[in-house]
Amino acid sequence: MSDPLLQVKDLTRIFDVSKPWLNRVIERDEKQYLRAVDEVSFSINKGETFALVGESGSGKSTIAKMVVGLLAASGGEIVFDGQAINPADTKAMAAVRSRLQMIFQSPFASLNPRWKVKDIIAEPMVSFGLYGEGNARVKRVEELLELVGLSAADAAKFPHEFSGGQRQRIAIARALSSNPEFIVCDEPTSALDVSVQAQILNLMRDLQDELGLTYLFISHDLSVVRHMANRIGVLYLGALVENADAKELFLRPQHPYSKMLLDAVPDVEMTGRPRVELSGEIPNPITPPSGCPFHPRCSIMVDECKAKMPPSIETPIGEAKCFRPEFQL
Ligand SMILES: Nc1ncnc2c1ncn2[C@@H]1O[C@H](COP(=O)(O)OP(=O)(O)OP(=O)(O)O)[C@@H](O)[C@H]1O
Ligand SMILES: [Mg+2]
Repeated sequence: MSDPLLQVKDLTRIFDVSKPWLNRVIERDEKQYLRAVDEVSFSINKGETFALVGESGSGKSTIAKMVVGLLAASGGEIVFDGQAINPADTKAMAAVRSRLQMIFQSPFASLNPRWKVKDIIAEPMVSFGLYGEGNARVKRVEELLELVGLSAADAAKFPHEFSGGQRQRIAIARALSSNPEFIVCDEPTSALDVSVQAQILNLMRDLQDELGLTYLFISHDLSVVRHMANRIGVLYLGALVENADAKELFLRPQHPYSKMLLDAVPDVEMTGRPRVELSGEIPNPITPPSGCPFHPRCSIMVDECKAKMPPSIETPIGEAKCFRPEFQL
């Protein structure tokens, strides 16, 4: 086993979603809070990929932003290679910032349309003062373009001259330009065609092998993370309900919600697992259900589930927050 590069412990983020003060006074409303991330813990070993999956609004991007230091946590801690990540501690953050990068969902929105590709890719080098001698930056940009499957001549073009997949390659080249060890990928392929998705995922895997990168890979789609992840964390309404070995999770998910998500993935390997009914909607996170937040949608719910949040227990394949995981049934 290698060492954890990133450790996240009891990470929590609460947003104040109250109406403006005057409205609250007139309408006699209370302040409202939303627990977007609720005591989430996981760790990622060097060179490995941890995937976070969950439906829209489950808190994936909020976790991503806290991990790279773009957003402050309300509680818990994030430790990267022994160093606490805390946006308020600007001095400590300066030391780790170039080692952590992020790739965003939309390659259309994340690249400045008025900048040439060479300036986009060189931007992290400029801000971290890397490759400052002579034409080292130009050379490095060309090297990076070739590394991500584009050509050195593309440096002089603008983002609009590329397809979605090519733009995501540019975004990857930019993320790599500060020589990071750790990359948070927030839905990096969900804006792309299926065929292009596979190419980008393959590229990311090759880069991981070549450069020894560690990924936190976020997706709402379990089939996307299937061939990327070593471990998978399943999020529901901000809580990590299952954290398990990726291969095992596909074979024998323990939490009823993991099962439900898996059920939406075609059973290409014909494992013959029984199908669970996909039902219900995600509750409003401002007024979450009591006890286990998944209980209104759960097919094996018992009274205990309504009363309190299940503790995290060890399962044969990892951990799950459930009173009735598969192995206990
Ligand atoms: N700045 C904010 N202020 C208030 N609420 C927020 C803020 N950012 C996120 N939220 C809320 O926190 C919850 C989690 O949001 P988040 O963007 O992390 O979800 P997600 O899992 O990334 O969803 P998606 O798959 O749609 O990207 C949502 O209910 C969202 O409305
Ligand atoms: Mg998101």
